[in-house]
Formats: sequence, C-alpha cells, structure tokens
Amino acid sequence: MTTRREFLVVVGAAVSAGAVVPACGAPDGPVDAGNVADIAEGQVMKVVGGGVLLGRDAGGLYAMTSFCTHLGCDLTESGGVVGEDGVITCGAPCGHGSRYDFDGNVLGGPAANPLKHWLLTVADDGAITVEVGSEVDAAERVIVA
Ligand code: FES
Repeated sequence: MTTRREFLVVVGAAVSAGAVVPACGAPDGPVDAGNVADIAEGQVMKVVGGGVLLGRDAGGLYAMTSFCTHLGCDLTESGGVVGEDGVITCGAPCGHGSRYDFDGNVLGGPAANPLKHWLLTVADDGAITVEVGSEVDAAERVIVA
C-alpha cells in the first residue's frame, strides 16, 4: 500500500519532470444522464456522480461540466444550487459563491471562466449520454421532440 508521503513524493517528482497531473473531477468518457422525458424546457438538472449539469432550453438539450471553474467544487454536491431563478450557485461548504447562468456563463466571481459544454447524444428511446471531456460550442444544442 502506498503511503500518503510516498504518493506526494511521486506526484512531486512527476510535476518536477513536467508531467501533467490531472485535475480532480469526473473521468472523461460517456455518462448516463437519464432520459429526455425527465427534463423540461427551462430546466438544468444535476447528474450526480457524473460531473455533469444537463440543460434544456427552447433550442434543445445541452450538457456542461459541473465542476466550478474557480477551484473545482462539484456543483452537483453540497453547496451547489441550481435555482429556479436561472442561476447556478457554487456555495459553502465547498464553494465561494460564484454564480453562473443556465448556459454556464459567469454572473459573479470569484470564478472567471464559463462552464465547458460537453457533447451529448440521445438514443431512439430518449436515453441521454454525455461525453465528458468532448467539448462543444456553448451554443450547440441537440434538438428533441
Ligand atoms: S470553487 Fe466555486 S466559487 Fe470557489
């Protein structure tokens, strides 16, 4: 078993050697994000465990990372609030009050950057899959009936 000290030494050596140490968050890849029938127009839902926020507006479906661009708190966990007022808040105990609109744009810091949008697909039965790590333009939508 690797001790904490041994782990820190290995990570420190990797950083010193110029290696990229991945940030905390959900691993890249497909995430089951429920079904189209479960999300109404005008909503943003938390996909707990997937590191994803799923949204639907007049244009269709879209998905965003749920990791705050300030220090990476997961907006699907404690302190992350998706309000009915169209505001997503990164609150205590993890977050520091950053606010985003339902498109992931920053309304108030300390976060300075918007939430990234991920590619999503919808199967014939309405099942939604989000490809975490596959970034798309924030204006992209998947049209649903
Ligand atoms: S991590 Fe979200 S505001 Fe600091």
